[in-house]
Amino acid sequence: MAMSGATGGCFIVLEGGEGVGKTTQWRRLADRLAAAGHDVVALREPGGTPAGDALRAVLLDPQSALTPETEALLFAASRAQLVRDVITPALHRGAVVLVDRFLLSTYAYQGRGRALSLAALREVNAFATGFLAPDLTLLLALPLEESMARMHARGSTDRMEREDDAFHRRVRAAFDDALQPAWQAQHPEIGPVVAVDADGEADLVTARCLAALATQWPHRFSEVPEERPLPAVEVTRG
Ligand SMILES: Nc1ncnc2c1ncn2[C@@H]1O[C@H](COP(=O)(O)OP(=O)(O)OP(=O)(O)O)[C@@H](O)[C@H]1O
Ligand SMILES: [Mg+2]
Repeated sequence: MAMSGATGGCFIVLEGGEGVGKTTQWRRLADRLAAAGHDVVALREPGGTPAGDALRAVLLDPQSALTPETEALLFAASRAQLVRDVITPALHRGAVVLVDRFLLSTYAYQGRGRALSLAALREVNAFATGFLAPDLTLLLALPLEESMARMHARGSTDRMEREDDAFHRRVRAAFDDALQPAWQAQHPEIGPVVAVDADGEADLVTARCLAALATQWPHRFSEVPEERPLPAVEVTRG
């Protein structure tokens, strides 16, 4: 199993179902970590390379009418390009690589959602990436009704978002399973997964994400300053 730990970089993934706030937190974390002086490479899946962005357009277009197998292979192709062209070199120079979705989404959407063989998905992705495992996955946890409400309020409907409620419930169950220690022990290619409460203001969720990073890497991330430092309080004695 390839781990990025030996490279000096850290490979962090944001995961969770539709509308839980991954992209919102991905942007905010990238900004906060960069402001604190970290070398941050923020990437999203599918995409992140010219070929990957072209594949993203096909994957998310409701007109594509992809078979589940084609869908899984295109995701893996985008991931192969991203890992080998961008993620691995960034980790080798010691960067913080922050990715919006990764292999766990494949297991949840194409595995559980589309009922494809997990063994086949594993093998295809091993070929695609050499199983570069994330150092930490932050799984944003939000009740399904709440995330659906956020998604509908946002108003976009890509190919995945158009799936029915049963599909989204299966995806959600797969993400829940990934929090179990026994599941993680059986899936070293996913790396450690921790839940972050995604309910509440975006600010609060960002603080929870930063706290999770500081727990995992106390020396690296404990110094990330508050976004808006509190003004110094002047104490007057009478
Ligand atoms: N903490 C929050 N409180 C309320 N609304 C939020 C919060 N975080 C994000 N949102 C809103 O919810 C919607 C979904 O957020 P976002 O796009 O970040 O989710 P996502 O997990 O990336 O979704 P997708 O799976 O579709 O990519 C957006 O309209 C966003 O502005
Ligand atoms: Mg998103």
